[in-house]
Amino acid sequence: MNSFGGRRKDLQDLQNLSRSPLLSYLQKQAKPQAPRNKTIAAVVPPRYPILAAFSPTRIFKWISEYLSHRIGPRHPFLTYAKSDPEQGVYRLEGDDTEIRIALAGDWATGTDEAERVARLIGSFHPHYSIHLGDVYYVGAPDEVDENFLGIKNPGNEYAPCLWPNGSHGSFALNGNHEMYARGYAYFDRMLPKLGLISDGKPQRQKASFFCLENDHWRIIGLDTGYGSIGWPLVEYIFQPSCALRTEQIDWLRKVVQPRDDDPRGIIVLSHHQYYSRYDYWYPKQAKQLAEFFSRPVMWFWGHEHRMAIYPEYGVPGSIRAFGRCIGHGGMPVDLPPAQPKHADCAVEFIDDRPYPNDENLTVGFNGFARLRLAGNRMTADYVDVDGAVIFSESWIVEGGVLRRVESTHL
Ligand SMILES: [Fe+2]
Repeated sequence: MNSFGGRRKDLQDLQNLSRSPLLSYLQKQAKPQAPRNKTIAAVVPPRYPILAAFSPTRIFKWISEYLSHRIGPRHPFLTYAKSDPEQGVYRLEGDDTEIRIALAGDWATGTDEAERVARLIGSFHPHYSIHLGDVYYVGAPDEVDENFLGIKNPGNEYAPCLWPNGSHGSFALNGNHEMYARGYAYFDRMLPKLGLISDGKPQRQKASFFCLENDHWRIIGLDTGYGSIGWPLVEYIFQPSCALRTEQIDWLRKVVQPRDDDPRGIIVLSHHQYYSRYDYWYPKQAKQLAEFFSRPVMWFWGHEHRMAIYPEYGVPGSIRAFGRCIGHGGMPVDLPPAQPKHADCAVEFIDDRPYPNDENLTVGFNGFARLRLAGNRMTADYVDVDGAVIFSESWIVEGGVLRRVESTHL
């Protein structure tokens, strides 16, 4: 849809984007360099866009970009310096009545829909905004600039997209697509523009994991993206598990120190899903967290491009969680298949509405989540790209136990 002048990217160029780094680099080359004429697009079904990548110059660019970004070590994994007084644990601050937090996953596509979601986040006036990861196509410097930092790319005719910072702070988790360029643009370009806001300026997000907390809640953001890639090509045989690195586990043990007698509610954020009715599972992270949490946690994740609410669930030997999939920030949203991959994994709510669009695509609605913390109450509204609240729930934490007290949906 073109609500803001038709100058941003189209969903069709990101549809069916592979989770293979090699093919993500290929699809990047297929995108047009200027916005389409949507009047024509409205009556002509989109062409299979990948064909455009096979012109001689684009093939050369595909291979050379892939090799230059993919060959070599990953960006060093950043941790908190010993001299850092906060060690990545920050006190949540809001106004007199509540703390507002916006969460969006897989948002950084530069599409018209991403821009609309950004405007809706802005109109929520969040104290904090948190991106759950994935900058498309491959998290390269030009894409971080154009699709996250709002910096115009002189090499095409699209308007850029700017991630809406919260008034008190903004954070971004690491996704697999950031790591397709070995994490350099994520750590070196994005993180300096994020973190707590002081004197109107972001003070830098110092690492890819953090904890925001007050007397009632702890929001723990974790990096599952760093462990989502392996050696080029070898990673297709030995699939990375997205495990939490030892540094994060040490940080949880020594700094965050979760305790059973802590009465606060735990909210976990990660890029990769723990479980899913529709897609792959990444249970390793949940198994690693089992030493810290004996009670169910609320867990927001992205990676899957849909919005889904799960009842409490967990695999044996791992923590149990109320899973909330919100990877529908800016990518073409997958409608639920007739035959889900894990039919025995119950879902409470799935947004399965087809999204009317001017690209003739069969996709679902984009959107994000609005959290409000007020004392021991947390309300989460799941908002679509048109601003409609499609699911809303309120939770109370008492003695560390989460209890849902209200829920409504369209
Ligand atoms: Fe992802």
